[in-house]
Amino acid sequence: MAQSKLFTPVTIPTKSGAGLQLRNRVVLPPMCQYVIDKRDGVPTTWQLTHLGSMAHGGFSLVITEATAVAAEGRISDRDAGLWNEEQVQAWKPITDYVRSHGSAVGVQLAHAGAKASTYGWLEELEAEGKVGSIPDVDGGWETFSSSSTDIFGLKPATEMSTEQIAASVQDWANAAQRADAAGFDLIQIHAAHGYLIHQFLSPLSNKRTDEYGGSFENRTRYLREVVHAVAEVWPAEKALGIRLSGEDWVQDGWGIDDTVRLAKEMYHLGVRAFDLSSAGIGSYAGPTGPGYQVPLAQAVKQALPEDAFVTAVGVITDATQAEHIVVTGQADGVSIGRAALGNPQWPNHAAQQLGAEKSYPAQYWRARW
Ligand SMILES: Cc1cc2nc3c(=O)[nH]c(=O)nc-3n(C[C@H](O)[C@H](O)[C@H](O)COP(=O)(O)O)c2cc1C
Repeated sequence: MAQSKLFTPVTIPTKSGAGLQLRNRVVLPPMCQYVIDKRDGVPTTWQLTHLGSMAHGGFSLVITEATAVAAEGRISDRDAGLWNEEQVQAWKPITDYVRSHGSAVGVQLAHAGAKASTYGWLEELEAEGKVGSIPDVDGGWETFSSSSTDIFGLKPATEMSTEQIAASVQDWANAAQRADAAGFDLIQIHAAHGYLIHQFLSPLSNKRTDEYGGSFENRTRYLREVVHAVAEVWPAEKALGIRLSGEDWVQDGWGIDDTVRLAKEMYHLGVRAFDLSSAGIGSYAGPTGPGYQVPLAQAVKQALPEDAFVTAVGVITDATQAEHIVVTGQADGVSIGRAALGNPQWPNHAAQQLGAEKSYPAQYWRARW
Protein backbone atom coordinates (compact mmCIF):
# COMPACT_ATOMS: atom_id res chain seq x y z
CA MET A 1 0.00 0.00 0.00
CA ALA A 2 1.23 3.52 -0.77
CA GLN A 3 2.61 5.46 2.15
CA SER A 4 0.10 7.80 3.78
CA LYS A 5 1.23 11.43 3.65
CA LEU A 6 -1.02 12.32 6.60
CA PHE A 7 1.04 9.95 8.73
CA THR A 8 4.43 11.15 7.52
CA PRO A 9 6.40 13.00 10.22
CA VAL A 10 6.89 16.72 9.79
CA THR A 11 8.97 19.42 11.45
CA ILE A 12 7.78 22.88 12.46
CA PRO A 13 10.85 25.11 12.08
CA THR A 14 12.21 26.92 15.14
CA LYS A 15 14.72 29.76 15.48
CA SER A 16 17.34 27.36 16.88
CA GLY A 17 17.19 25.33 13.68
CA ALA A 18 16.36 22.07 15.45
CA GLY A 19 12.62 22.32 14.78
CA LEU A 20 9.67 20.76 16.57
CA GLN A 21 9.23 17.19 15.31
CA LEU A 22 5.68 15.89 14.86
CA ARG A 23 5.00 12.18 14.39
CA ASN A 24 2.20 12.86 11.89
CA ARG A 25 0.12 15.74 10.51
CA VAL A 26 -3.01 15.38 12.65
CA VAL A 27 -3.39 18.19 15.18
CA LEU A 28 -5.86 18.64 18.02
CA PRO A 29 -7.08 22.24 17.74
CA PRO A 30 -7.93 24.33 20.80
CA MET A 31 -11.32 23.62 22.32
CA CYS A 32 -12.66 25.48 25.35
CA GLN A 33 -13.81 23.18 28.10
CA TYR A 34 -15.51 25.66 30.49
CA VAL A 35 -14.78 23.26 33.30
CA ILE A 36 -12.87 25.25 35.92
CA ASP A 37 -15.55 25.61 38.56
CA LYS A 38 -13.18 27.33 40.98
CA ARG A 39 -13.05 30.15 38.42
CA ASP A 40 -9.34 30.68 39.04
CA GLY A 41 -8.02 29.71 35.61
CA VAL A 42 -6.07 26.79 37.09
CA PRO A 43 -6.34 23.65 34.90
CA THR A 44 -7.68 20.54 36.60
CA THR A 45 -7.59 16.78 36.26
CA TRP A 46 -10.12 17.29 33.45
CA GLN A 47 -7.47 18.98 31.27
CA LEU A 48 -5.01 16.20 32.13
CA THR A 49 -7.48 13.48 31.19
CA HIS A 50 -8.92 15.20 28.15
CA LEU A 51 -5.60 16.24 26.59
CA GLY A 52 -3.91 13.01 27.73
CA SER A 53 -6.51 10.92 25.95
CA MET A 54 -5.80 12.84 22.75
CA ALA A 55 -2.11 11.96 23.09
CA HIS A 56 -3.14 8.31 23.56
CA GLY A 57 -5.24 8.67 20.42
CA GLY A 58 -2.24 9.46 18.24
CA PHE A 59 -2.44 13.22 17.73
CA SER A 60 1.00 14.61 16.94
CA LEU A 61 0.32 18.04 18.41
CA VAL A 62 -2.21 18.62 21.15
CA ILE A 63 -3.22 22.24 21.68
CA THR A 64 -4.98 23.44 24.83
CA GLU A 65 -8.22 25.32 24.95
CA ALA A 66 -8.02 29.13 24.67
CA THR A 67 -5.87 30.04 27.68
CA ALA A 68 -6.19 33.61 28.85
CA VAL A 69 -3.17 35.88 29.13
CA ALA A 70 -5.06 38.04 31.65
CA ALA A 71 -8.02 37.34 33.93
CA GLU A 72 -10.21 39.90 32.18
CA GLY A 73 -9.46 38.19 28.83
CA ARG A 74 -11.32 34.99 29.65
CA ILE A 75 -14.29 34.15 27.44
CA SER A 76 -16.03 32.74 30.50
CA ASP A 77 -15.26 32.56 34.21
CA ARG A 78 -14.55 28.81 33.79
CA ASP A 79 -11.69 29.31 31.28
CA ALA A 80 -8.08 28.29 31.77
CA GLY A 81 -5.32 30.86 32.15
CA LEU A 82 -1.61 31.56 32.28
CA TRP A 83 -1.53 34.81 34.17
CA ASN A 84 -0.02 33.49 37.42
CA GLU A 85 2.43 31.02 38.89
CA GLU A 86 -0.21 28.67 40.31
CA GLN A 87 -1.45 28.07 36.75
CA VAL A 88 2.11 27.36 35.56
CA GLN A 89 2.50 24.70 38.25
CA ALA A 90 -0.83 23.10 37.32
CA TRP A 91 -0.05 23.00 33.58
CA LYS A 92 3.39 21.41 34.08
CA PRO A 93 2.29 17.81 34.86
CA ILE A 94 -0.21 18.03 31.99
CA THR A 95 2.43 19.01 29.44
CA ASP A 96 4.79 16.35 30.81
CA TYR A 97 2.11 13.70 30.50
CA VAL A 98 1.05 14.61 26.96
CA ARG A 99 4.66 14.62 25.77
CA SER A 100 5.36 11.30 27.48
CA HIS A 101 2.81 9.78 25.09
CA GLY A 102 4.55 11.06 21.96
CA SER A 103 2.61 14.25 21.28
CA ALA A 104 4.04 17.72 21.17
CA VAL A 105 1.98 20.07 23.30
CA GLY A 106 0.94 23.60 22.45
CA VAL A 107 -0.94 26.29 24.32
CA GLN A 108 -3.38 28.60 22.62
CA LEU A 109 -2.77 31.98 24.25
CA ALA A 110 -5.85 34.12 24.05
CA HIS A 111 -7.61 37.31 25.06
CA ALA A 112 -11.33 37.55 24.39
CA GLY A 113 -11.58 41.36 24.47
CA ALA A 114 -15.20 42.40 23.95
CA LYS A 115 -16.20 38.71 23.91
CA ALA A 116 -15.01 38.17 27.48
CA SER A 117 -17.19 37.87 30.59
CA THR A 118 -19.74 35.52 29.01
CA TYR A 119 -21.23 32.30 30.29
CA GLY A 120 -19.46 30.28 27.56
CA TRP A 121 -21.18 27.41 25.79
CA LEU A 122 -22.39 24.77 28.21
CA GLU A 123 -25.58 22.81 27.66
CA GLU A 124 -26.62 23.02 31.32
CA LEU A 125 -26.10 26.81 31.48
CA GLU A 126 -28.01 27.32 28.25
CA ALA A 127 -30.88 25.31 29.68
CA GLU A 128 -30.96 27.77 32.59
CA GLY A 129 -31.07 30.67 30.11
CA LYS A 130 -27.48 31.62 30.97
CA VAL A 131 -26.20 32.82 27.60
CA GLY A 132 -24.22 35.89 26.57
CA SER A 133 -22.70 38.43 28.95
CA ILE A 134 -22.57 37.55 32.64
CA PRO A 135 -24.40 40.30 34.54
CA ASP A 136 -22.36 42.11 37.22
CA VAL A 137 -24.52 40.58 39.96
CA ASP A 138 -23.48 37.12 38.76
CA GLY A 139 -19.75 37.93 38.66
CA GLY A 140 -19.40 39.65 35.27
CA TRP A 141 -16.47 42.02 34.73
CA GLU A 142 -15.50 45.02 32.60
CA THR A 143 -14.40 44.10 29.06
CA PHE A 144 -11.90 45.88 26.80
CA SER A 145 -11.53 46.09 23.05
CA SER A 146 -10.17 48.06 20.11
CA SER A 147 -13.44 50.03 20.08
CA SER A 148 -16.72 50.10 21.92
CA THR A 149 -19.14 48.31 19.60
CA ASP A 150 -22.43 46.44 19.83
CA ILE A 151 -21.52 44.12 16.93
CA PHE A 152 -21.19 41.14 19.29
CA GLY A 153 -24.59 41.53 20.91
CA LEU A 154 -22.81 41.57 24.29
CA LYS A 155 -22.37 44.30 26.85
CA PRO A 156 -20.28 47.12 25.37
CA ALA A 157 -16.53 46.94 25.91
CA THR A 158 -14.36 49.86 26.99
CA GLU A 159 -12.10 51.19 24.23
CA MET A 160 -8.48 50.53 25.20
CA SER A 161 -6.17 53.51 25.67
CA THR A 162 -2.69 53.29 24.14
CA GLU A 163 -1.36 52.70 27.69
CA GLN A 164 -3.75 49.77 28.08
CA ILE A 165 -2.66 48.41 24.70
CA ALA A 166 0.99 48.54 25.81
CA ALA A 167 0.13 46.80 29.09
CA SER A 168 -1.83 44.16 27.19
CA VAL A 169 1.14 43.44 24.88
CA GLN A 170 3.21 42.90 28.02
CA ASP A 171 0.55 40.46 29.32
CA TRP A 172 1.09 38.32 26.21
CA ALA A 173 4.86 38.32 26.72
CA ASN A 174 4.50 37.41 30.39
CA ALA A 175 2.12 34.58 29.53
CA ALA A 176 4.60 33.34 26.91
CA GLN A 177 7.32 33.15 29.56
CA ARG A 178 4.95 31.22 31.81
CA ALA A 179 4.09 28.92 28.89
CA ASP A 180 7.77 28.09 28.62
CA ALA A 181 8.03 27.39 32.35
CA ALA A 182 4.90 25.23 32.10
CA GLY A 183 6.64 23.03 29.52
CA PHE A 184 4.78 23.88 26.33
CA ASP A 185 6.55 23.18 23.01
CA LEU A 186 4.51 25.62 20.94
CA ILE A 187 2.46 28.76 21.40
CA GLN A 188 -0.51 29.33 19.15
CA ILE A 189 -1.53 33.00 19.28
CA HIS A 190 -5.30 33.24 19.00
CA ALA A 191 -5.90 35.90 16.39
CA ALA A 192 -9.19 34.44 15.12
CA HIS A 193 -12.90 34.06 15.92
CA GLY A 194 -13.66 37.66 16.82
CA TYR A 195 -11.53 37.77 19.96
CA LEU A 196 -9.32 40.70 20.96
CA ILE A 197 -6.64 40.49 18.26
CA HIS A 198 -9.25 39.93 15.56
CA GLN A 199 -11.21 42.87 17.04
CA PHE A 200 -8.21 45.02 16.09
CA LEU A 201 -7.75 43.39 12.66
CA SER A 202 -11.29 43.64 11.33
CA PRO A 203 -12.71 46.94 10.11
CA LEU A 204 -16.10 45.69 11.32
CA SER A 205 -15.03 46.03 14.95
CA ASN A 206 -12.07 48.41 14.85
CA LYS A 207 -13.32 51.99 14.55
CA ARG A 208 -10.25 53.69 16.02
CA THR A 209 -8.79 56.82 14.48
CA ASP A 210 -5.34 56.59 16.11
CA GLU A 211 -2.32 54.51 15.04
CA TYR A 212 -4.20 51.28 15.92
CA GLY A 213 -7.13 51.88 13.57
CA GLY A 214 -7.95 52.79 9.97
CA SER A 215 -5.38 51.40 7.52
CA PHE A 216 -4.31 47.74 7.26
CA GLU A 217 -1.00 48.69 8.78
CA ASN A 218 -2.66 50.35 11.77
CA ARG A 219 -5.25 47.60 12.38
CA THR A 220 -2.52 44.96 12.36
CA ARG A 221 -0.21 46.94 14.67
CA TYR A 222 -1.45 45.41 17.94
CA LEU A 223 -0.91 41.89 16.58
CA ARG A 224 2.56 42.75 15.29
CA GLU A 225 3.44 44.13 18.72
CA VAL A 226 2.09 41.00 20.42
CA VAL A 227 4.00 38.63 18.14
CA HIS A 228 7.17 40.65 18.44
CA ALA A 229 6.94 40.67 22.26
CA VAL A 230 6.14 36.95 22.43
CA ALA A 231 8.90 36.00 19.97
CA GLU A 232 11.44 37.93 22.04
CA VAL A 233 10.87 35.89 25.18
CA TRP A 234 9.96 32.53 23.60
CA PRO A 235 12.97 30.16 23.56
CA ALA A 236 14.67 29.65 20.20
CA GLU A 237 14.16 25.88 20.31
CA LYS A 238 10.36 26.22 20.64
CA ALA A 239 7.80 26.74 17.89
CA LEU A 240 5.59 29.76 17.28
CA GLY A 241 2.16 29.51 15.68
CA ILE A 242 -0.93 31.55 15.01
CA ARG A 243 -4.61 30.92 14.37
CA LEU A 244 -6.23 33.32 11.94
CA SER A 245 -9.74 33.89 10.72
CA GLY A 246 -9.01 33.81 7.00
CA GLU A 247 -12.29 35.58 6.26
CA ASP A 248 -14.96 37.39 8.25
CA TRP A 249 -17.39 36.21 5.56
CA VAL A 250 -19.14 39.55 6.02
CA GLN A 251 -19.46 42.35 3.44
CA ASP A 252 -16.67 44.94 3.95
CA GLY A 253 -15.01 42.76 6.60
CA TRP A 254 -11.57 41.19 6.87
CA GLY A 255 -10.87 38.99 3.83
CA ILE A 256 -8.48 36.39 2.49
CA ASP A 257 -6.30 38.96 0.71
CA ASP A 258 -5.75 40.68 4.07
CA THR A 259 -4.97 37.30 5.63
CA VAL A 260 -2.39 36.38 3.02
CA ARG A 261 -0.67 39.75 3.41
CA LEU A 262 -0.72 39.38 7.20
CA ALA A 263 0.52 35.78 7.13
CA LYS A 264 3.61 36.88 5.19
CA GLU A 265 4.31 39.52 7.85
CA MET A 266 3.82 36.94 10.58
CA TYR A 267 6.27 34.61 8.87
CA HIS A 268 8.77 37.44 8.78
CA LEU A 269 8.33 37.88 12.57
CA GLY A 270 9.12 34.18 13.18
CA VAL A 271 5.72 32.47 13.05
CA ARG A 272 5.97 29.07 11.33
CA ALA A 273 2.70 27.28 12.18
CA PHE A 274 -0.51 28.68 10.69
CA ASP A 275 -4.00 27.32 11.37
CA LEU A 276 -6.68 28.75 9.10
CA SER A 277 -10.13 29.12 10.57
CA SER A 278 -12.67 31.85 9.83
CA ALA A 279 -15.41 34.17 11.09
CA GLY A 280 -16.32 35.42 14.56
CA ILE A 281 -17.45 38.98 13.88
CA GLY A 282 -20.80 40.03 12.41
CA SER A 283 -23.54 37.98 10.77
CA TYR A 284 -22.01 34.92 9.11
CA ALA A 285 -22.63 34.80 5.37
CA GLY A 286 -20.08 32.17 4.37
CA PRO A 287 -20.02 28.57 3.23
CA THR A 288 -20.53 25.49 5.38
CA GLY A 289 -19.93 21.77 4.86
CA PRO A 290 -17.00 19.37 4.65
CA GLY A 291 -13.65 21.12 4.34
CA TYR A 292 -15.25 24.53 3.83
CA GLN A 293 -12.22 26.40 5.20
CA VAL A 294 -9.59 24.42 3.29
CA PRO A 295 -9.29 27.05 0.50
CA LEU A 296 -8.22 29.57 3.16
CA ALA A 297 -5.36 27.32 4.24
CA GLN A 298 -4.46 26.72 0.60
CA ALA A 299 -4.26 30.46 -0.15
CA VAL A 300 -1.93 31.02 2.81
CA LYS A 301 0.18 27.96 2.01
CA GLN A 302 0.71 29.13 -1.57
CA ALA A 303 1.87 32.54 -0.35
CA LEU A 304 4.35 31.34 2.29
CA PRO A 305 7.80 29.76 2.00
CA GLU A 306 7.85 25.94 1.84
CA ASP A 307 8.88 25.41 5.44
CA ALA A 308 5.75 26.97 6.98
CA PHE A 309 3.42 24.39 8.52
CA VAL A 310 -0.10 25.31 7.40
CA THR A 311 -3.07 23.39 8.74
CA ALA A 312 -6.66 23.31 7.56
CA VAL A 313 -9.58 23.00 9.97
CA GLY A 314 -13.33 22.78 9.87
CA VAL A 315 -15.58 19.78 9.25
CA ILE A 316 -12.71 17.46 8.42
CA THR A 317 -14.02 14.20 9.77
CA ASP A 318 -12.86 11.43 7.51
CA ALA A 319 -9.41 9.83 7.02
CA THR A 320 -9.51 9.88 3.22
CA GLN A 321 -10.74 13.47 3.21
CA ALA A 322 -7.80 14.46 5.45
CA GLU A 323 -5.32 12.44 3.37
CA HIS A 324 -6.61 14.13 0.20
CA ILE A 325 -6.07 17.60 1.68
CA VAL A 326 -2.38 16.96 2.37
CA VAL A 327 -1.68 14.82 -0.72
CA THR A 328 -3.02 17.54 -3.00
CA GLY A 329 -0.89 20.13 -1.18
CA GLN A 330 -3.82 22.24 -0.03
CA ALA A 331 -2.36 22.16 3.49
CA ASP A 332 0.51 20.49 5.36
CA GLY A 333 -1.71 19.06 8.05
CA VAL A 334 -5.24 19.01 9.44
CA SER A 335 -6.84 19.97 12.74
CA ILE A 336 -9.57 17.63 13.90
CA GLY A 337 -11.89 19.21 16.48
CA ARG A 338 -15.37 17.90 17.13
CA ALA A 339 -14.63 14.53 15.56
CA ALA A 340 -11.94 14.10 18.23
CA LEU A 341 -14.37 14.85 21.02
CA GLY A 342 -16.48 11.98 19.73
CA ASN A 343 -13.47 9.75 19.18
CA PRO A 344 -10.14 10.66 20.83
CA GLN A 345 -8.61 7.71 18.92
CA TRP A 346 -9.40 9.45 15.60
CA PRO A 347 -5.75 9.53 14.42
CA ASN A 348 -5.19 5.86 15.20
CA HIS A 349 -8.35 4.85 13.37
CA ALA A 350 -7.33 7.03 10.42
CA ALA A 351 -3.87 5.43 10.43
CA GLN A 352 -5.48 2.00 10.40
CA GLN A 353 -7.68 2.97 7.45
CA LEU A 354 -4.76 4.46 5.52
CA GLY A 355 -2.40 1.56 6.23
CA ALA A 356 -0.05 3.67 8.33
CA GLU A 357 1.58 3.06 11.68
CA LYS A 358 -0.60 3.71 14.73
CA SER A 359 0.69 5.20 17.97
CA TYR A 360 -1.54 3.94 20.76
CA PRO A 361 -0.25 3.26 24.29
CA ALA A 362 1.22 -0.19 24.93
CA GLN A 363 -1.55 -0.81 27.46
CA TYR A 364 -4.10 -0.84 24.62
CA TRP A 365 -2.41 -3.49 22.45
CA ARG A 366 -4.99 -6.13 23.29
CA ALA A 367 -7.61 -4.13 21.44
CA ARG A 368 -6.11 -6.05 18.45
CA TRP A 369 -6.38 -3.23 16.00
C1 LIG B 1 -16.27 22.70 22.26
C2 LIG B 1 -15.49 23.59 21.34
C3 LIG B 1 -14.65 24.56 21.88
C4 LIG B 1 -13.87 25.36 21.05
N1 LIG B 1 -12.98 26.25 21.60
C5 LIG B 1 -12.08 26.89 20.82
C6 LIG B 1 -11.01 27.61 21.39
O1 LIG B 1 -10.79 27.63 22.60
N2 LIG B 1 -10.16 28.26 20.55
C7 LIG B 1 -10.32 28.22 19.19
O2 LIG B 1 -9.53 28.83 18.45
N3 LIG B 1 -11.31 27.49 18.62
C8 LIG B 1 -12.17 26.81 19.40
N4 LIG B 1 -13.11 26.00 18.83
C9 LIG B 1 -13.10 25.79 17.37
C10 LIG B 1 -12.32 24.51 17.02
O3 LIG B 1 -10.96 24.61 17.36
C11 LIG B 1 -12.45 24.18 15.52
O4 LIG B 1 -11.85 25.21 14.79
C12 LIG B 1 -13.89 24.02 15.08
O5 LIG B 1 -14.60 23.15 15.96
C13 LIG B 1 -13.99 23.49 13.65
O6 LIG B 1 -13.31 22.27 13.53
P1 LIG B 1 -14.11 20.86 13.54
O7 LIG B 1 -15.15 20.95 12.48
O8 LIG B 1 -13.07 19.83 13.30
O9 LIG B 1 -14.75 20.74 14.91
C14 LIG B 1 -13.95 25.22 19.65
C15 LIG B 1 -14.84 24.27 19.13
C16 LIG B 1 -15.57 23.45 19.94
C17 LIG B 1 -16.46 22.41 19.32
